[in-house]
Amino acid sequence: MDTITGAKILVTGPNSSVGLPVALDLATRNEVWGVARFGNADLRARLEAGGVHCETVDFATADFTGLPDDFDYVCNFAVARGGDGDWDRDLAANGEAVGLLLARCRRATAFLHCSSTAVYQPAGAHPLAETDSLGDNHRAMFATYSIAKIASEVVARTACRQFGVPTTVARLNVPYGDHLGWPWFHLKMMEAGLAIPVHPDRPNRFNPIHADDIVRQVPWLLAAASVPATVVNWAGGPATVEEWCGLIAELTGLEARFEETERTIGSVTTDNTRMHALVGPAEVDWRTGITRMVAANR
Ligand SMILES: NC(=O)c1ccc[n+]([C@@H]2O[C@H](COP(=O)([O-])OP(=O)(O)OC[C@H]3O[C@@H](n4cnc5c(N)ncnc54)[C@H](OP(=O)(O)O)[C@@H]3O)[C@@H](O)[C@H]2O)c1
Repeated sequence: MDTITGAKILVTGPNSSVGLPVALDLATRNEVWGVARFGNADLRARLEAGGVHCETVDFATADFTGLPDDFDYVCNFAVARGGDGDWDRDLAANGEAVGLLLARCRRATAFLHCSSTAVYQPAGAHPLAETDSLGDNHRAMFATYSIAKIASEVVARTACRQFGVPTTVARLNVPYGDHLGWPWFHLKMMEAGLAIPVHPDRPNRFNPIHADDIVRQVPWLLAAASVPATVVNWAGGPATVEEWCGLIAELTGLEARFEETERTIGSVTTDNTRMHALVGPAEVDWRTGITRMVAANR
């Protein structure tokens, strides 16, 4: 399924960095509803100008009763990753909310739950497959994130079976684009003369995936949904932090200065065999994507 047309689609977190291009793209051919708290009025206005119908819902309380219950597809990009370690709120907003959302949308043809490779136990340069050990690899930066994402996967898997809604749990690696993601953040740090934190267990290898590939693969991921849920890595690459910062330095003349610290995320690189079989590979080579990102920002 390379495109979806004429459907009624709910996108949660349509104002997130990953969800925004997806919601705007889907809204060119479909009736798209977006839910979030919409603290940023500019982003809400941008979505509405792009045809997205925005409704305010706080996932911490997760009252979805004001929403229609006849969505054809649901794409869940909302994530609460408060850095304050409020476990109760973050498990409610990331876990309980997913079950209540699936219950509300039980008539949907497919549900895409955006997860993260933050769910894996770090394993250095070993490419992590969907069957590998789970762990808490984001603790150094976001206290609740990895465990809340694992919890949300389990709730999505359970609700998928309970309500019979075909579901895909897609574990996104490093999403990036012209104005989003970790590489973009590194560009901004380099412009500010800041050192890039890297884990001492070098090289720091990930699988960056460009926003164009994310947008292009959403319909395929929805088509891959099943009961019980399909669980799949969602990734491009591989490339190391050192490599992409090196390329940014080469293209801009900025210095790529690294600072080794345990208080950052170490390598999380993925085996993308299942993804390639289900939805095909990412098409934007990381060097091309980073070059485009630099050109868009300088
Ligand atoms: N960014 C990455 O590097 C990365 C990597 C791997 C996976 N992912 C996954 O990609 C998805 C999107 O991540 P992102 O980084 O693009 O997100 P983001 O930019 O941090 O945005 C978070 C989104 O969640 C919404 N949200 C947060 N708390 C909420 C609440 N209590 N109620 C309702 N909505 C709430 C936000 O809207 P409001 O604040 O307006 O409510 C916003 O739309 C997530 O599933 C994330 O786990 C991201």
